[in-house]
Amino acid sequence: MKGIILAGGLGTRLHPLTLAMSKHLLPVYDKPMIYYPLSTLMLAKVRDILMISTEQDVEKYRKLLGDGHQFGVNLSYAVQASPDGIAQAFLIGKEFIGEESCVLILGDNIFYGSNFTSKLLRAGRNADLGQATIFGYYVKHPERFGVVEYDDNGQVVSIEEKPRKPKSNYAVVGLYFYPAGAAEMAGRVEPSPRGELEITSMNEMYLKAGKLNVEILGRGNAWMDVGTVESLSDASMFIRMVEQRQGIQISAPEEIAYRYKWISKEELIKSANRYGNTSYGAHLRAVAEGKMNW
Ligand code: G1P
Repeated sequence: MKGIILAGGLGTRLHPLTLAMSKHLLPVYDKPMIYYPLSTLMLAKVRDILMISTEQDVEKYRKLLGDGHQFGVNLSYAVQASPDGIAQAFLIGKEFIGEESCVLILGDNIFYGSNFTSKLLRAGRNADLGQATIFGYYVKHPERFGVVEYDDNGQVVSIEEKPRKPKSNYAVVGLYFYPAGAAEMAGRVEPSPRGELEITSMNEMYLKAGKLNVEILGRGNAWMDVGTVESLSDASMFIRMVEQRQGIQISAPEEIAYRYKWISKEELIKSANRYGNTSYGAHLRAVAEGKMNW
């Protein structure tokens, strides 16, 4: 399975923060935003990852993440010249995806919760078996998102992009697992009235074909999409609270790589030293010394 992180867009809702800085490099408490979606793909055991960003920012991501060897993954980079919609990521990544299944995550989506990894692994297995999986999350303001509609039997009957009158409170999160052929499917998406290749249109296609699972991320799961100063600040406070209280790190890619045995203890210690005398570096050293095994 291949993975794509879409970190395009201009981040206009975060001005002036994003006037000179790429949105997905902004700090979410103690690490760059992009570490969180990268960690989610890694938890799904995806090791070939394409980072899609804007022309002016792509080199910054390369500087931060390199070829991915320190995380035990292969990272490559591509440019989205203009923000023409999420489904465009599959067209940009057509060659990268090849004949494989693919998972796409939006660069500003942060996930945290127990049993989340098993959900990711199941979605990956289903994609390899020809079924797409997306995730629904109960929110107070569904009109800001893609929204899933259910019938009385709990069957999904529609998915609408930012409807004025949402038919449920279940938002579609920015994490999409598709079987082989996602680029061909994206090629059939027509631009929406706002001129974008909507991911919702792709999900509708899989739904019509009877190939869409919608899993609910229920209570006990945190999902944040960080598009405004308020949500950026909320996400930072949430991460800080959990990390400080428990003395853990949320979404430390090197830790995930080490626990999956993708990198050696020596490589982990090397990374820890690269981060110097920070709490992130100290955490990685503690993991290497076997002090964080719970
Ligand atoms: C996009 C999608 C929307 C989805 C959301 C999740 O919206 O179009 O369906 O619910 O991501 O983060 P955007 O954040 O681009 O407004």
